Amino acid sequence: MTTSLKSSKKNNLSGEVVIPGDKSISHRAIVFGLLSKGKTQIHGSQNSEDVHNSLNVARFLGIKTKVKSSVIFLDSPGIEGLSAPTKDLYFGNSGTGMRLFAGFLSSLNFSSTLTGDASLSNRPMMRIIDPLQKMGAKISATNKENPPLKISPSTGLIGITYKMPIASAQVKSSILLAGLNAEGKTQVQEKYPTRDHTERMMKTFEANISFSKGIVEIEKSDLKTPGQIEVPGDFSSAAFFIGACLISENSEIKIKNVGINNTRKAFLDCLLDMNANIDLANIRQLGNEEVADLVIKSSDLLPAKIMEDIVPNLIDELPLFFLIASLIDGESEFNGLSELKHKESDRLSIMINNLQKLDVEVQLNEDSLKIIGKKDRIFSDEVFDSHGDHRIAMTMLVAGLRSTEGLTITNLECINTSFPEFIDQAKTLGFSFKNG
Ligand code: S3P
Repeated sequence: MTTSLKSSKKNNLSGEVVIPGDKSISHRAIVFGLLSKGKTQIHGSQNSEDVHNSLNVARFLGIKTKVKSSVIFLDSPGIEGLSAPTKDLYFGNSGTGMRLFAGFLSSLNFSSTLTGDASLSNRPMMRIIDPLQKMGAKISATNKENPPLKISPSTGLIGITYKMPIASAQVKSSILLAGLNAEGKTQVQEKYPTRDHTERMMKTFEANISFSKGIVEIEKSDLKTPGQIEVPGDFSSAAFFIGACLISENSEIKIKNVGINNTRKAFLDCLLDMNANIDLANIRQLGNEEVADLVIKSSDLLPAKIMEDIVPNLIDELPLFFLIASLIDGESEFNGLSELKHKESDRLSIMINNLQKLDVEVQLNEDSLKIIGKKDRIFSDEVFDSHGDHRIAMTMLVAGLRSTEGLTITNLECINTSFPEFIDQAKTLGFSFKNG
């Protein structure tokens, strides 16, 4: 991929794209295929660096894998048959990969060391270490509270009841994966609903799981593979094109195969409340998840007011949401943003700096942000670094649609961690990119 591009103003976006597989669900399909005995085929997985790293780790734990024309084939001896890795397990940029694998690795009777790239090596891990240690896991961070993580052989985990201090699907999933192989019941209580792909996939693999609003319970389970998993398109990838179309004049696009799980689509729900012209068609069930085709038209949006309780359901869309807010007449308000500082980069500070550089007025008060938007705003020509964060990179390329001279974004390789097809699909829809 070109490492830097100049993205510039282009109206009349049009055309149709099929969104590639969901990252969260692809990771989970690999994890559950690994933990259940026998053969699992994963159809429509995301073909990204993050997901490839999880697949490589699965291989190091002793399962056979093959990738053939977009299908991942897994053949696993099951959780009991996994073997001690002879190398460190490298998760690249992926907090999801590391936190999910750490959960079940903590319950196994061999050692493992989990490493990542520079960004992942700076991300907080006490959020999983604390509850896993409470279950009896011998897990620690070697770099204060950051990776690498060291796990020593388990002598058996015990189920706990855990009230999560932060709303995180990664933490919830890590504990549930440990609970799959722990004595007794493991209960996780969440303050606000977070994405529920783990719970859904546990059901698909016949785990002893039950969930109701805010409470998930799991007991030791012998997973059974359904043989085949279908991965819907990634809502968080689709979001960039939804946003691009809404802020461009005379535009209409169709995005096919978009996962619209209720715990993921708060961005869409909010946009609809804000007057966005978006139609959902062909709503259907794909395995345990719901998908739809979206038709989006340029829209005159109302300002946003986002409260803390729905932030986990639009957490990955927030950088883009801030950009959109800057292009709506009036004051938009976002509350409960503290988790945004702990993503692949400090997305809150970076987006505040980026918007200020584009002359947008923003006001930060603790973890609440106000953005004073203007509908007819045209950005000047500026250069932005991605800070190695895929979602910052794609947000700023979308911002270029409102710059006559163009915005140059550098260090774009990070887009490969979640959406390698982004540049080509954006060009299909009419984005204007030049080598920067
Ligand atoms: C994810 C959960 C979210 C999200 C991340 C993927 C997952 O993180 O930001 O991109 O797959 O569970 P947190 O649950 O830690 O907020």
